[in-house]
Amino acid sequence: MITKQSFGKTAKTREQVDVYTLEVGLYKVSISTYGGAITSFLVPDKEGNVANVVLGYASLAEYEQSTTYFGFLIGRFANRIKAGQFSIGGEDYQVPCNDNGINALHGGVEGLHSKVWSASTTTSESEATLHLSCFSKDGEMGFPGNLSVNVDYTLSVEGKLKIDYRATTDKTTPVNLTNHAYFNLAGDGKDIRNHLLQLDCDAYIPVDATLIPTGEVLPVINTPFDFTQEKRIGEDLEAAGGYDHCMVLSDRSEHLRRCAYVYEPTTGRTMAVSTTLPGVQFYTGNFLNGSDMSKNNVPYNKHAGFCLETQHFPDAPNHANFPNCILKPTETYKHTTVFEFNV
Ligand code: GLA
Repeated sequence: MITKQSFGKTAKTREQVDVYTLEVGLYKVSISTYGGAITSFLVPDKEGNVANVVLGYASLAEYEQSTTYFGFLIGRFANRIKAGQFSIGGEDYQVPCNDNGINALHGGVEGLHSKVWSASTTTSESEATLHLSCFSKDGEMGFPGNLSVNVDYTLSVEGKLKIDYRATTDKTTPVNLTNHAYFNLAGDGKDIRNHLLQLDCDAYIPVDATLIPTGEVLPVINTPFDFTQEKRIGEDLEAAGGYDHCMVLSDRSEHLRRCAYVYEPTTGRTMAVSTTLPGVQFYTGNFLNGSDMSKNNVPYNKHAGFCLETQHFPDAPNHANFPNCILKPTETYKHTTVFEFNV
């Protein structure tokens, strides 16, 4: 079943924003047309009690003013581009440096997360789909090409949320789309340190002080980044200085394969994440500081949630040794990520 509610109008352009709620079996996910953000995801625990497992705000205004990117679809280029600069075919491009004025982050200050996406829906007995689309014109945020983007969120009765991303362009351009949901399988305001995490990633991308990759791809073995065996998120959190790193899937293919598995022991909730992309940004909410409030007015403190943002490697347009993130007019960008919940 799919229902639609008004979320209000955007402050700047007075565009109508709606929230669509997909309900299938025991699962219910709500998605705003503003930035395609997942605003709530109700998932049962081992006793059958449902709770919201994603961080989110009560109002549209909080989403418009946020710098946390809670639940948003991210693009044109997820994560950072060094100094916002890249070159294609001898042409130089400049994306606004919205990350402390040093680098470009998440496609610039008016990335795809800041758009009102067009929506349509389809439902069947066992699943419900929200089709979102948006258009980014040539030169927007410094990126070349008119880019048409389609994202389908499909919720199925077995607790899978599948996100299918597609994009086409009329000029060669970097594309790296993702979803920026922050999860806490124990529910709002709880701590993530005791979640057990396994990452099917044998390498990671080290970064400099501004979180730009050094260009290396290093093995995780004997480092705080080794989650090849299940480990508490808090086990080496301090040693890692908080996680905010792109983990590299061990399976270097482009098939849909698992990249992460999370188990929350007090509720019994589990989440498996699969993707067709080469990387997954593991971020433990290091920049949260209690200034953002949940729908129940609970402050989101540091590490109140964790992200598993499937994506190309950060700053990939500037690293020839990283998997290709450049889309040509003759190609279609296609990427699938699945979040599968269970108890
Ligand atoms: C990504 C980045 C983090 C942070 C968040 C948004 O996860 O890797 O450094 O910028 O987005 O707050």
